[in-house]
Amino acid sequence: MRKEDAGPAKPAAYRELKAQLAGLFADERDGLANSANTAAALYQGLPDLNWAGFYFLRSDELVLGPFQGKVACVRIALGSGVCGVAAERRHAVLVPDVHAFPGHIACDADSRSEIVIPLVRHGRLVGVLDLDSPSLARFDDDDRIGLSAIVELLLESSDLSRLHD
Ligand code: SME
Repeated sequence: MRKEDAGPAKPAAYRELKAQLAGLFADERDGLANSANTAAALYQGLPDLNWAGFYFLRSDELVLGPFQGKVACVRIALGSGVCGVAAERRHAVLVPDVHAFPGHIACDADSRSEIVIPLVRHGRLVGVLDLDSPSLARFDDDDRIGLSAIVELLLESSDLSRLHD
C-alpha cells in the first residue's frame, strides 16, 4: 500500500489483517502468543509505523508487553502519557502531533504521531494497544475503527488473564 493510498485502502487493510489474525487465533487461546502475533502482524502489515505493541495493567500501572520496534519504557502510570490517559479514560486517544500532547512519554524520538486503544474486557481495563508513527497525523478514524475491531478479536479469542491483574 503506498502512503498516499492509505486513506481509501485502510478499511480493506484492516479487514485483511483481522482475517489473518482470526486464522492464527482459531486454534490458539494463549494470550501472550496471540498478543505477540498481533503486534507483529500490525507492525508488518501497516505502513509508516515505528512502534506497535501492548502495555498490560499490572498492580495499577501499565507494564510493557509484546511489541515490535525500539526498546520502550517499561512502566507507565495511569493518567500519564498517551497510554496512561487512554487507559484511565477507557477511550481511544489519537495524537496527531506528539510534541503538542502535554505529558507525552517519548520512548522513541522518531515518533511524531500516536494512537492508543484501550483493552477492556467485561468492564475491566486489561491494558492498551499503542501504535507510533514517524509521520505527523498518521492515524485517523479508520485506524481507530480498524484497530478497535482487532482488539475486540484479540480479547474474544485469547486468555489474557495471566498478563494483567
Ligand atoms: N508514547 C507513549 C509511551 C509508550 S511508547 O510510545 C512505546 C505515551 O506517551 O504513553
